[in-house]
Amino acid sequence: MRLSGKKRPASESFDTRKKARMEKMSRVLVIEATGYIGKFVVAASAKSGHPTFALVRESDLSNPATAGIVEVFKSLGVNLVHGDIYNHENLLSAIKQVDVVISAVEQARLADQDRIVAAIKAAGNIKRFLPSEFGNDVDRVHAVEPAKSTFAIKAKIRRLVEAEGIPYTYVSSNFFAGYFLRTLSQPGATAPPRDKVFIFGDGNARAVFNKEDDIGTYTIKAVDDPRTLNKILYIRPPANTYSFNDLVSLWERKIGKTLERVYVPEEQVLKNIQEAAVPLNEILSISHSVFVKGDHTNFEIEPSFGVEASELYPNVKYTTVDQYLDQFV
Ligand SMILES: NC(=O)c1ccc[n+]([C@@H]2O[C@H](COP(=O)([O-])OP(=O)(O)OC[C@H]3O[C@@H](n4cnc5c(N)ncnc54)[C@H](OP(=O)(O)O)[C@@H]3O)[C@@H](O)[C@H]2O)c1
Repeated sequence: MRLSGKKRPASESFDTRKKARMEKMSRVLVIEATGYIGKFVVAASAKSGHPTFALVRESDLSNPATAGIVEVFKSLGVNLVHGDIYNHENLLSAIKQVDVVISAVEQARLADQDRIVAAIKAAGNIKRFLPSEFGNDVDRVHAVEPAKSTFAIKAKIRRLVEAEGIPYTYVSSNFFAGYFLRTLSQPGATAPPRDKVFIFGDGNARAVFNKEDDIGTYTIKAVDDPRTLNKILYIRPPANTYSFNDLVSLWERKIGKTLERVYVPEEQVLKNIQEAAVPLNEILSISHSVFVKGDHTNFEIEPSFGVEASELYPNVKYTTVDQYLDQFV
């Protein structure tokens, strides 16, 4: 029995109500949509009912590496917009069609996001901008080169966004599971180790590993949420927060075998970074920041600057580290 509220007219169909709900949801544009994390954000946006726009290059339609992704976008009802961040007119016209802009540009183009900021300012209609972050909180890191410079570029874009008065959310998603969990962060590996494991530092700093679909889901939940406005959204679910030592123990229990643990002291990690070629030096320096310096978890999330995703959205059934590792047993 309905206790309150207006009775819906019988003529109001499910489709009409769905359409009305969608009309209230922000229109979302994802830039560099076919990239590694971009495609998960696009899928989450479309599946949650946001009118979703993907900025793709003409070449993405014919490139075998991205054409399949574009087909998936089409099947999800995503609007394809041709262009990239270097074509101001196309970018501006794409931005004018939406309310929220999410950048998923890759490392090499992070600094060029000033073009997105300029286009957002020129368009004047954007309610929220999410620059390409999807990692450590770059204002709270203790990194060495080359990660130090990458984080500094992301921080510089943050300052630009703030100076321009653009409403924002910075998504600090910590580690992508597909990059750092599936190998137990063993450089060069393609699966978790079964004999010997190298542990950065003493293995006690706690790191956070999130499945990419969940990063997409939480990112999209944040775009219309006033609680994430001008805040950092940390994706730090308790069940995905592990010290290296505990992670190895979890994996050992799963495979029923004890691994040889080789601890690599910080001095040796730093030496390895200096001697490594690109891009291994970048990966090692990020690992140093997270596993040696503890940069995922060595600070409290204060309400003045941040919110935690699994607390804000307790109904999201995220994939835990424990569940994720099952596929490799
Ligand atoms: N937390 C983590 O574990 C983690 C791991 C990796 C990355 N990240 C972060 O995630 C963010 C995104 O990185 P990503 O690894 O997802 O990017 P990515 O896949 O390396 O790069 C984007 C790719 O998309 C292609 N692309 C697709 N559409 C494009 C378009 N419209 N214009 C230009 N290029 C287009 C680019 O191709 P071309 O190369 O042919 O131009 C490029 O290969 C970055 O901020 C990065 O720092 C975080």
